[in-house]
Amino acid sequence: MARGRCAGRMDEIEIGMQGRDLLAPRSDEVATVQARTLLAGATGQVGTQMLRVLRDTRGPEAAVATTRHAREGWVHLDFAELATLEEAAALFDGYALDSIYCVAGMTAVDACEDQPELAFRTNARGPGVLAAYAQRRALPFVYFSTEYVFDGAADHSGPYEETALMQPLSVYGRSKLAGEEAVLAACAGALVLRTTVVYGPDARQKNYLYSLMRSLATGTRMRVPADQVSTPTYNLDLIAAALGLVECGASGIFHVCGPELLGRLEFAERIAAALQLDPTLLEGVSTAELGQRAARPLAAGLATTKLRSLYPQLRMRTVPEAIEDCAGELRAFLAEVRA
Ligand SMILES: NC(=O)c1ccc[n+]([C@@H]2O[C@H](COP(=O)([O-])OP(=O)(O)OC[C@H]3O[C@@H](n4cnc5c(N)ncnc54)[C@H](OP(=O)(O)O)[C@@H]3O)[C@@H](O)[C@H]2O)c1
Repeated sequence: MARGRCAGRMDEIEIGMQGRDLLAPRSDEVATVQARTLLAGATGQVGTQMLRVLRDTRGPEAAVATTRHAREGWVHLDFAELATLEEAAALFDGYALDSIYCVAGMTAVDACEDQPELAFRTNARGPGVLAAYAQRRALPFVYFSTEYVFDGAADHSGPYEETALMQPLSVYGRSKLAGEEAVLAACAGALVLRTTVVYGPDARQKNYLYSLMRSLATGTRMRVPADQVSTPTYNLDLIAAALGLVECGASGIFHVCGPELLGRLEFAERIAAALQLDPTLLEGVSTAELGQRAARPLAAGLATTKLRSLYPQLRMRTVPEAIEDCAGELRAFLAEVRA
């Protein structure tokens, strides 16, 4: 694998709703058989957007996409079942690949408390096997992880650097930490990207941003934890960072998130302001009042000093900048909801 440094090598990279041409292959990279990007978990929030970016920039055949559900032209992959390198080889040896991105995961934080064994197989064992497969084929491998590996305790608060003490509070956090360890042990050049509160355009219209828009546009009150502090991340910036870091041969753990440290209520209020929605429908409550099964880190957030020093050209957008970037898509959704 060719490995280099980002700093000074790449032009500023930004994937917006307009102008997603920055990741098109250079003419000297176009081979007779186009190597494709394996996207494990291509139906999720990040996966859907990443698939769209890859297809828009590199063509309709750019990605090999996986799901657990029957879907023509897709590969059936269930991390809960994937246990050996041979099983991974049987699924993917037939494809010319240039890299593997693991955005799949059991992400329902409370459900992970009820099914810890499934959470560990999905978030740790399966990704570890896929990372070992990447190692065998000498492919870059990227694992998406989370701020929930930290505890967000008042005496040990974020924003956290990559080297901060990890003390996950939940099964989800522990399973993702085990996933990080599994992929780094299995694949020498693996890249682990920890992110948090991902929002942005979502073809499935399902992520937090859409729930918030749906509530506020229909005059429905929405309870928001006022005591959870984090660094919300625009999904298209996360994708640009992942693709760019692979392009320049980065490996190891990186924090990738937006530039603002915000409480969830403040985050929701900024979205409401940017979209002229009624902020008085937002009701700040404590996390304890929500009665969720899994504990959440409260004073959290991620620091991106390492990312910015390796990759100074990368621009992670603020909430107003991000909303402006995808305003057309969001306003169309709002019009649909109000109709
Ligand atoms: N969203 C956030 O705010 C956030 C924050 C921090 C970290 N992350 C991390 O970022 C990654 C992407 O998150 P996301 O929000 O896009 O997640 P998501 O919307 O919940 O999507 C999860 C994806 O994983 C797949 N999946 C679930 N169980 C699977 C299994 N047993 N085997 C194979 N695939 C399985 C799902 O596909 P099918 O159902 O089609 O199989 C889906 O494509 C995750 O690893 C997550 O831990 C997300």
